[in-house]
Amino acid sequence: MNEIPVYETPVAAAVACAEALRSLIEDALAERSVARVAVSGGSTPRLMFDALSAMPLDWKRIDWFWVDERCVPPSDEQSNYAMTARHLFTPAGVPAERIHRVRGELPPAEALEQYLAEIEQVFQTDFPEFDVVQLGLGADAHTASLFPGEPLIEEIGGVAAAVYVRKLEQWRITLLPEALFSARARLVLVTGEDKAEALRRITSEPLEPRRLPGQLLLSQQALSHFFLDRAAAAGLE
Ligand code: 6PG
Repeated sequence: MNEIPVYETPVAAAVACAEALRSLIEDALAERSVARVAVSGGSTPRLMFDALSAMPLDWKRIDWFWVDERCVPPSDEQSNYAMTARHLFTPAGVPAERIHRVRGELPPAEALEQYLAEIEQVFQTDFPEFDVVQLGLGADAHTASLFPGEPLIEEIGGVAAAVYVRKLEQWRITLLPEALFSARARLVLVTGEDKAEALRRITSEPLEPRRLPGQLLLSQQALSHFFLDRAAAAGLE
């Protein structure tokens, strides 16, 4: 991880990530009429979305999906959709028909089925190639909603799945490794001291993604661009 730029503050890392996302979207829009992006949730992307929402982009031509979503209704404060709407869609004025949310209010199997159908309809194929996926890292080294021990991490094939996260007692819908690997680019935004140990472990311990899912982002198949702040990078050599 030597050449990875480390930004002084969470805001600086978020702005750099937003700038990279904007540039990848513009590259896609130069080639095609639409760009397709999948974003993560949790709290880290908020500052990045705030920065992105103020950037000039052709918002009518960008389709938004999620890397993962919690199975909660959109009115729930844990909803990744709701967070993205607050920090990105509303301030940027993203048209509703470009927002392809996971219907977290449905039973997980149904939410998954509808999400897969929506992906298929937008991409016009059953295997999506996102122009860019934006990911995060949990303090336990999870990425997307692929948590340590998750058998699907080793499964080849598959776009998305419904997973039950025992320690959170929560169902989630998540993209699977192959969909993450198939994206044209991956941006990983990790900030805060609570992530330092996870970053240290994924970069220094033997490659075992089922134990340390964040290592999926380091594999050759999935070259990713990391955006770190100084606090998250504290444990790196
Ligand atoms: C989610 C996310 C998740 C996230 C990490 C980091 O729904 O929780 O998409 O995969 O990237 O959990 O979350 P924080 O930013 O809240 O630490």
